[in-house]
Amino acid sequence: MHITSLSASPSERSRSAWLTQFALTRLEGRATQHDDILVRSLPASALLAADLHDPAIAAAVQAVERADLVIVGTPIYKAAYSGLLKVFLDLLPPDALRGKLVLPLATGGSPAHLLALDYALKPVLSALGARHVLDGVFATDAQLRRHEAGGFVPEADLIARLDRALAPIAPRLMRPQPEPALSC
Ligand SMILES: Cc1cc2nc3c(=O)[nH]c(=O)nc-3n(C[C@H](O)[C@H](O)[C@H](O)COP(=O)(O)O)c2cc1C
Repeated sequence: MHITSLSASPSERSRSAWLTQFALTRLEGRATQHDDILVRSLPASALLAADLHDPAIAAAVQAVERADLVIVGTPIYKAAYSGLLKVFLDLLPPDALRGKLVLPLATGGSPAHLLALDYALKPVLSALGARHVLDGVFATDAQLRRHEAGGFVPEADLIARLDRALAPIAPRLMRPQPEPALSC
């Protein structure tokens, strides 16, 4: 399975990017190929000008096109997904997500906007042709504590929700798993 992960936080030390990488580790063994898109690392002027001829932008779009599973990780900003994510999704061709599995992930400061994946992101994924969207996973910052050695520590409930979301593609995740690494 070709997995492309898409992280759309402007932060260098990003919780949502960490959660996206953590989801990949839970799928260990399922990814035969993996592409990782860090939207904040794409050239800003090319991104804002929707320059599909820019080599880095073109490579990122192709990485989405190649994927069987796209993991979309975003922080919640102003009750929705990040602007960085929208700028990138707007570059994708129509139906870019048709026939692919999509796993939406988000982190937010409080549970107030835990439905943002449903009311804000899922309609956009649907507009891009996604018809097989796994359960979204939202984590508050408190459920993903910073670790002094770097990385974050996910609460057990968060790991359980993530594994449940991934179970359709990795049923073994519904069985007990070893303790997670602290950073990825
Ligand atoms: C500009 C800005 C707007 C934010 N708006 C919200 C919000 O509306 N709802 C919320 O729950 N958290 C909000 N937050 C908190 C972030 O979503 C939260 O800290 C998240 O984990 C950050 O993820 P990141 O580390 O991947 O950037 C906001 C943070 C920033 C910087």
